[in-house]
Amino acid sequence: MGSRWNITNIHLPNEIHFEEINNRTNQTIVTNFILLGFSDNSDLQVLLFLSFLAIYLLTVAGNIVIIVLVVTDLHLHIPMYLFLGNLSCLEICYTSTILPRLFFSLLTGDRTISVHGCILQYFFFGSLASTECYLLAVMSYDRYLAICRPLRYTYLMNGRICFWLLAISWMTGLLNISVITSLLFKLLFCGPNEIEHFFCDIAPLFKLSCSSTHLVERVNFIFASIDTLPPFLLTLISYLCIIINILQMKTKASRQKAFSTCSSHLIVVTLFYGSLICVYLLPETNTLKELHKTFSLFYTVFTPMLNPLIYSLRNREIKAAFARTATKMVNVTHSLSL
Ligand SMILES: *[C@@H]1O[C@H](CO)[C@@H](O)[C@H](O)[C@H]1NC(C)=O
Repeated sequence: MGSRWNITNIHLPNEIHFEEINNRTNQTIVTNFILLGFSDNSDLQVLLFLSFLAIYLLTVAGNIVIIVLVVTDLHLHIPMYLFLGNLSCLEICYTSTILPRLFFSLLTGDRTISVHGCILQYFFFGSLASTECYLLAVMSYDRYLAICRPLRYTYLMNGRICFWLLAISWMTGLLNISVITSLLFKLLFCGPNEIEHFFCDIAPLFKLSCSSTHLVERVNFIFASIDTLPPFLLTLISYLCIIINILQMKTKASRQKAFSTCSSHLIVVTLFYGSLICVYLLPETNTLKELHKTFSLFYTVFTPMLNPLIYSLRNREIKAAFARTATKMVNVTHSLSL
Protein backbone atom coordinates (compact mmCIF):
# COMPACT_ATOMS: atom_id res chain seq x y z
CA MET A 1 0.00 0.00 0.00
CA GLY A 2 2.66 2.46 1.16
CA SER A 3 4.36 2.54 -2.22
CA ARG A 4 1.19 3.75 -3.89
CA TRP A 5 1.12 6.88 -1.80
CA ASN A 6 3.02 9.66 -3.39
CA ILE A 7 4.80 11.11 -0.43
CA THR A 8 6.91 14.23 -0.58
CA ASN A 9 8.33 16.47 2.04
CA ILE A 10 6.82 19.90 1.75
CA HIS A 11 7.20 23.03 3.84
CA LEU A 12 4.61 23.19 6.53
CA PRO A 13 2.42 26.29 6.56
CA ASN A 14 3.43 28.79 9.27
CA GLU A 15 0.09 28.59 11.00
CA ILE A 16 0.73 25.10 12.33
CA HIS A 17 1.61 25.01 16.02
CA PHE A 18 4.88 23.42 17.03
CA GLU A 19 2.99 21.08 19.27
CA GLU A 20 1.11 19.81 16.27
CA ILE A 21 4.31 19.27 14.33
CA ASN A 22 5.87 17.36 17.22
CA ASN A 23 2.88 15.07 17.30
CA ARG A 24 3.57 13.90 13.82
CA THR A 25 7.32 14.10 13.37
CA ASN A 26 7.18 10.47 12.36
CA GLN A 27 4.34 11.06 9.92
CA THR A 28 4.60 12.05 6.31
CA ILE A 29 2.58 14.58 4.41
CA VAL A 30 0.41 13.36 1.55
CA THR A 31 0.36 15.60 -1.51
CA ASN A 32 -1.65 13.40 -3.84
CA PHE A 33 -5.01 11.70 -3.51
CA ILE A 34 -6.30 8.73 -5.43
CA LEU A 35 -9.84 9.07 -6.75
CA LEU A 36 -11.02 5.47 -6.86
CA GLY A 37 -13.86 6.22 -9.27
CA PHE A 38 -16.01 3.37 -10.49
CA SER A 39 -14.20 0.16 -11.19
CA ASP A 40 -10.84 -1.54 -11.64
CA ASN A 41 -12.03 -3.69 -14.51
CA SER A 42 -10.35 -2.38 -17.68
CA ASP A 43 -13.12 -3.50 -20.07
CA LEU A 44 -15.64 -1.68 -17.97
CA GLN A 45 -13.40 1.40 -17.99
CA VAL A 46 -13.70 1.64 -21.78
CA LEU A 47 -17.46 1.22 -21.60
CA LEU A 48 -17.72 3.83 -18.86
CA PHE A 49 -15.50 6.20 -20.83
CA LEU A 50 -17.68 5.90 -23.94
CA SER A 51 -20.94 6.33 -22.01
CA PHE A 52 -19.68 9.37 -20.12
CA LEU A 53 -18.27 10.86 -23.29
CA ALA A 54 -21.65 10.46 -25.01
CA ILE A 55 -23.40 12.03 -22.02
CA TYR A 56 -20.94 14.92 -21.92
CA LEU A 57 -21.26 15.68 -25.64
CA LEU A 58 -25.06 15.51 -25.38
CA THR A 59 -25.01 17.84 -22.37
CA VAL A 60 -22.80 20.45 -24.02
CA ALA A 61 -24.61 20.28 -27.37
CA GLY A 62 -28.10 20.42 -25.82
CA ASN A 63 -27.27 23.33 -23.56
CA ILE A 64 -25.54 25.23 -26.37
CA VAL A 65 -28.69 24.84 -28.49
CA ILE A 66 -30.76 26.34 -25.64
CA ILE A 67 -28.31 29.25 -25.22
CA VAL A 68 -28.30 29.97 -28.97
CA LEU A 69 -32.11 29.91 -29.09
CA VAL A 70 -32.45 32.19 -26.04
CA VAL A 71 -29.88 34.67 -27.33
CA THR A 72 -30.98 34.80 -30.98
CA ASP A 73 -34.77 34.38 -30.83
CA LEU A 74 -36.54 37.60 -29.87
CA HIS A 75 -39.66 35.72 -28.71
CA LEU A 76 -37.57 34.23 -25.93
CA HIS A 77 -36.29 37.53 -24.56
CA ILE A 78 -38.39 37.30 -21.40
CA PRO A 79 -37.17 36.57 -17.84
CA MET A 80 -38.15 32.89 -17.84
CA TYR A 81 -35.91 32.14 -20.83
CA LEU A 82 -33.09 34.46 -19.77
CA PHE A 83 -32.95 32.39 -16.58
CA LEU A 84 -33.06 29.22 -18.64
CA GLY A 85 -30.18 30.47 -20.81
CA ASN A 86 -28.17 31.24 -17.70
CA LEU A 87 -28.99 27.81 -16.29
CA SER A 88 -27.68 26.20 -19.47
CA CYS A 89 -24.42 28.17 -19.23
CA LEU A 90 -24.14 27.09 -15.63
CA GLU A 91 -24.71 23.43 -16.40
CA ILE A 92 -22.05 23.33 -19.10
CA CYS A 93 -19.52 24.72 -16.58
CA TYR A 94 -20.85 22.47 -13.86
CA THR A 95 -20.36 19.14 -15.67
CA SER A 96 -17.06 20.40 -17.05
CA THR A 97 -15.65 20.56 -13.52
CA ILE A 98 -16.18 16.82 -13.13
CA LEU A 99 -16.38 14.87 -16.38
CA PRO A 100 -13.14 15.84 -18.20
CA ARG A 101 -11.12 14.81 -15.12
CA LEU A 102 -13.02 11.51 -15.04
CA PHE A 103 -12.31 10.93 -18.78
CA PHE A 104 -8.62 11.39 -18.13
CA SER A 105 -8.49 8.77 -15.40
CA LEU A 106 -10.70 6.31 -17.31
CA LEU A 107 -8.47 6.64 -20.39
CA THR A 108 -5.03 6.63 -18.81
CA GLY A 109 -5.75 4.69 -15.63
CA ASP A 110 -4.00 7.50 -13.74
CA ARG A 111 -6.28 8.19 -10.82
CA THR A 112 -4.06 10.46 -8.77
CA ILE A 113 -5.01 14.06 -8.20
CA SER A 114 -2.91 16.54 -6.25
CA VAL A 115 -4.34 17.73 -2.94
CA HIS A 116 -4.54 21.28 -4.27
CA GLY A 117 -6.13 20.11 -7.49
CA CYS A 118 -8.69 18.22 -5.46
CA ILE A 119 -9.56 21.27 -3.34
CA LEU A 120 -9.80 23.41 -6.47
CA GLN A 121 -12.16 20.90 -8.05
CA TYR A 122 -14.32 21.15 -4.93
CA PHE A 123 -14.19 24.94 -5.15
CA PHE A 124 -15.51 25.05 -8.73
CA PHE A 125 -17.98 22.23 -8.26
CA GLY A 126 -19.27 23.58 -4.93
CA SER A 127 -19.73 27.16 -6.04
CA LEU A 128 -21.48 26.14 -9.26
CA ALA A 129 -23.72 23.70 -7.37
CA SER A 130 -24.89 26.35 -4.92
CA THR A 131 -25.39 28.79 -7.80
CA GLU A 132 -27.59 26.11 -9.35
CA CYS A 133 -29.66 25.90 -6.14
CA TYR A 134 -30.19 29.67 -6.16
CA LEU A 135 -30.90 29.82 -9.88
CA LEU A 136 -33.49 27.05 -9.64
CA ALA A 137 -35.11 28.96 -6.76
CA VAL A 138 -35.16 32.19 -8.75
CA MET A 139 -36.76 30.33 -11.65
CA SER A 140 -39.51 28.94 -9.42
CA TYR A 141 -40.10 32.40 -7.93
CA ASP A 142 -40.45 33.68 -11.50
CA ARG A 143 -43.04 30.97 -12.23
CA TYR A 144 -44.82 31.84 -8.96
CA LEU A 145 -45.13 35.49 -9.99
CA ALA A 146 -46.26 34.59 -13.51
CA ILE A 147 -48.95 32.15 -12.36
CA CYS A 148 -50.11 33.61 -9.04
CA ARG A 149 -49.51 37.36 -9.64
CA PRO A 150 -50.02 37.65 -13.40
CA LEU A 151 -51.21 41.28 -13.32
CA ARG A 152 -48.17 42.55 -11.46
CA TYR A 153 -45.71 40.21 -13.19
CA THR A 154 -44.05 42.69 -15.56
CA TYR A 155 -43.70 45.17 -12.70
CA LEU A 156 -42.26 42.65 -10.21
CA MET A 157 -39.96 40.88 -12.67
CA ASN A 158 -38.43 43.70 -14.72
CA GLY A 159 -34.99 43.70 -16.33
CA ARG A 160 -33.24 45.22 -13.32
CA ILE A 161 -34.68 42.79 -10.79
CA CYS A 162 -33.92 39.94 -13.18
CA PHE A 163 -30.31 41.07 -13.38
CA TRP A 164 -29.94 41.36 -9.60
CA LEU A 165 -31.51 37.98 -8.92
CA LEU A 166 -29.00 36.43 -11.32
CA ALA A 167 -26.11 38.41 -9.85
CA ILE A 168 -27.01 37.30 -6.32
CA SER A 169 -27.28 33.67 -7.48
CA TRP A 170 -23.83 33.74 -9.05
CA MET A 171 -22.19 35.62 -6.16
CA THR A 172 -23.57 33.77 -3.11
CA GLY A 173 -22.12 30.40 -4.00
CA LEU A 174 -18.80 31.88 -5.03
CA LEU A 175 -18.34 33.86 -1.80
CA ASN A 176 -19.34 31.05 0.56
CA ILE A 177 -17.25 28.41 -1.11
CA SER A 178 -14.23 30.75 -1.23
CA VAL A 179 -14.26 30.97 2.56
CA ILE A 180 -14.48 27.18 2.96
CA THR A 181 -11.83 26.59 0.30
CA SER A 182 -9.36 28.93 2.02
CA LEU A 183 -9.82 26.88 5.21
CA LEU A 184 -9.41 23.60 3.30
CA PHE A 185 -6.05 24.75 1.93
CA LYS A 186 -4.75 24.90 5.53
CA LEU A 187 -5.59 21.26 6.28
CA LEU A 188 -2.80 18.70 6.37
CA PHE A 189 -3.13 15.18 5.00
CA CYS A 190 -0.89 12.38 6.25
CA GLY A 191 -2.49 9.35 4.59
CA PRO A 192 -4.39 7.19 3.84
CA ASN A 193 -5.14 9.02 0.63
CA GLU A 194 -7.78 7.04 -1.24
CA ILE A 195 -11.10 8.74 -1.97
CA GLU A 196 -13.99 6.39 -2.63
CA HIS A 197 -15.64 8.70 -5.19
CA PHE A 198 -15.31 9.92 -8.77
CA PHE A 199 -14.73 13.56 -7.88
CA CYS A 200 -13.46 15.55 -4.90
CA ASP A 201 -16.32 16.20 -2.56
CA ILE A 202 -15.81 17.81 0.80
CA ALA A 203 -16.73 14.95 3.18
CA PRO A 204 -13.80 12.66 2.16
CA LEU A 205 -11.42 15.58 2.64
CA PHE A 206 -12.51 15.94 6.26
CA LYS A 207 -12.19 12.22 6.80
CA LEU A 208 -8.66 12.02 5.37
CA SER A 209 -7.24 15.08 7.06
CA CYS A 210 -4.97 14.70 10.06
CA SER A 211 -5.39 18.32 11.17
CA SER A 212 -8.27 19.33 13.36
CA THR A 213 -11.26 19.77 11.07
CA HIS A 214 -13.55 21.07 13.78
CA LEU A 215 -13.65 24.70 12.65
CA VAL A 216 -13.87 24.04 8.91
CA GLU A 217 -16.61 21.45 9.43
CA ARG A 218 -18.63 23.98 11.43
CA VAL A 219 -18.11 26.72 8.86
CA ASN A 220 -18.99 24.27 6.12
CA PHE A 221 -22.18 23.26 7.90
CA ILE A 222 -23.27 26.89 8.24
CA PHE A 223 -22.47 27.83 4.65
CA ALA A 224 -23.89 24.63 3.20
CA SER A 225 -27.12 25.45 5.02
CA ILE A 226 -27.09 29.01 3.64
CA ASP A 227 -26.43 27.68 0.15
CA THR A 228 -29.17 25.09 0.09
CA LEU A 229 -31.86 25.72 2.68
CA PRO A 230 -33.20 29.17 1.64
CA PRO A 231 -33.33 28.29 -2.08
CA PHE A 232 -34.90 24.93 -1.28
CA LEU A 233 -37.59 26.51 0.91
CA LEU A 234 -38.20 29.28 -1.63
CA THR A 235 -38.64 26.65 -4.34
CA LEU A 236 -40.93 24.55 -2.18
CA ILE A 237 -43.12 27.49 -1.14
CA SER A 238 -43.33 28.82 -4.71
CA TYR A 239 -44.51 25.46 -5.97
CA LEU A 240 -47.00 25.02 -3.13
CA CYS A 241 -48.52 28.40 -4.03
CA ILE A 242 -48.45 27.54 -7.73
CA ILE A 243 -50.18 24.19 -7.19
CA ILE A 244 -52.84 25.67 -4.91
CA ASN A 245 -53.41 28.42 -7.45
CA ILE A 246 -53.67 26.00 -10.37
CA LEU A 247 -56.12 23.78 -8.49
CA GLN A 248 -58.38 26.78 -7.92
CA MET A 249 -58.54 27.74 -11.59
CA LYS A 250 -62.00 27.48 -13.11
CA THR A 251 -61.44 25.87 -16.51
CA LYS A 252 -59.41 22.82 -17.44
CA ALA A 253 -57.77 24.73 -20.30
CA SER A 254 -56.41 27.46 -18.03
CA ARG A 255 -55.16 24.85 -15.58
CA GLN A 256 -53.33 23.03 -18.37
CA LYS A 257 -51.87 26.24 -19.75
CA ALA A 258 -50.56 27.33 -16.35
CA PHE A 259 -49.14 23.90 -15.59
CA SER A 260 -47.41 23.62 -18.95
CA THR A 261 -45.32 26.73 -18.22
CA CYS A 262 -43.87 25.31 -15.02
CA SER A 263 -43.89 21.53 -15.45
CA SER A 264 -40.45 21.32 -17.12
CA HIS A 265 -38.89 23.32 -14.35
CA LEU A 266 -40.66 21.25 -11.70
CA ILE A 267 -39.19 18.04 -13.15
CA VAL A 268 -35.68 19.51 -13.22
CA VAL A 269 -35.98 20.80 -9.65
CA THR A 270 -37.30 17.48 -8.35
CA LEU A 271 -34.46 15.50 -9.97
CA PHE A 272 -31.83 17.89 -8.67
CA TYR A 273 -33.02 18.20 -5.08
CA GLY A 274 -34.13 14.57 -4.89
CA SER A 275 -30.62 13.31 -5.63
CA LEU A 276 -28.97 15.98 -3.46
CA ILE A 277 -31.10 14.94 -0.49
CA CYS A 278 -30.35 11.25 -1.09
CA VAL A 279 -26.61 11.91 -1.14
CA TYR A 280 -26.17 14.45 1.63
CA LEU A 281 -28.93 13.66 4.10
CA LEU A 282 -28.95 9.85 4.15
CA PRO A 283 -26.38 8.33 6.54
CA GLU A 284 -23.30 6.85 4.87
CA THR A 285 -23.52 3.16 5.72
CA ASN A 286 -21.64 0.52 3.80
CA THR A 287 -24.63 -0.60 1.77
CA LEU A 288 -25.43 2.98 0.87
CA LYS A 289 -21.89 3.74 -0.27
CA GLU A 290 -22.32 2.50 -3.82
CA LEU A 291 -25.74 4.13 -3.94
CA HIS A 292 -24.14 7.41 -2.87
CA LYS A 293 -21.94 7.33 -5.93
CA THR A 294 -24.88 6.46 -8.18
CA PHE A 295 -27.06 9.22 -6.78
CA SER A 296 -24.15 11.65 -7.10
CA LEU A 297 -24.24 10.89 -10.82
CA PHE A 298 -27.77 12.28 -10.92
CA TYR A 299 -27.05 15.79 -9.77
CA THR A 300 -23.58 16.02 -11.31
CA VAL A 301 -24.10 14.35 -14.67
CA PHE A 302 -27.71 13.45 -15.47
CA THR A 303 -29.61 16.66 -14.57
CA PRO A 304 -27.37 18.87 -16.73
CA MET A 305 -27.95 16.45 -19.61
CA LEU A 306 -31.70 16.06 -19.06
CA ASN A 307 -32.38 19.76 -18.55
CA PRO A 308 -32.30 20.81 -22.24
CA LEU A 309 -34.11 17.60 -23.24
CA ILE A 310 -36.91 18.21 -20.74
CA TYR A 311 -37.30 21.81 -21.84
CA SER A 312 -37.15 21.09 -25.55
CA LEU A 313 -39.64 18.23 -25.35
CA ARG A 314 -42.15 19.86 -23.02
CA ASN A 315 -41.99 23.56 -23.67
CA ARG A 316 -44.01 24.89 -26.61
CA GLU A 317 -42.09 28.17 -26.91
CA ILE A 318 -38.72 26.42 -27.06
CA LYS A 319 -40.05 23.98 -29.65
CA ALA A 320 -41.42 26.87 -31.74
CA ALA A 321 -38.14 28.79 -31.46
CA PHE A 322 -36.26 25.66 -32.49
CA ALA A 323 -38.51 25.25 -35.54
CA ARG A 324 -38.05 28.92 -36.51
CA THR A 325 -34.26 28.72 -36.21
CA ALA A 326 -34.13 25.42 -38.09
CA THR A 327 -36.26 26.85 -40.92
CA LYS A 328 -34.03 29.92 -41.08
CA MET A 329 -30.93 27.75 -41.29
CA VAL A 330 -32.42 25.51 -43.98
CA ASN A 331 -33.33 28.62 -45.99
CA VAL A 332 -29.83 30.05 -45.64
CA THR A 333 -28.11 26.83 -46.73
CA HIS A 334 -30.64 26.51 -49.56
CA SER A 335 -29.96 30.01 -50.88
CA LEU A 336 -26.23 29.45 -50.51
CA SER A 337 -26.34 26.29 -52.57
CA LEU A 338 -28.29 27.97 -55.37
C1 LIG B 1 -28.23 35.63 -18.47
O1 LIG B 1 -28.86 36.70 -17.83
C2 LIG B 1 -28.49 37.99 -18.27
C3 LIG B 1 -29.12 39.03 -17.35
O2 LIG B 1 -30.52 39.01 -17.37
C4 LIG B 1 -28.91 38.14 -19.72
O3 LIG B 1 -28.57 39.42 -20.19
C5 LIG B 1 -28.21 37.08 -20.53
O4 LIG B 1 -28.66 37.13 -21.88
C6 LIG B 1 -28.52 35.69 -19.98
N1 LIG B 1 -27.69 34.73 -20.69
C7 LIG B 1 -28.22 33.78 -21.46
C8 LIG B 1 -27.28 32.90 -22.17
O5 LIG B 1 -29.41 33.62 -21.56
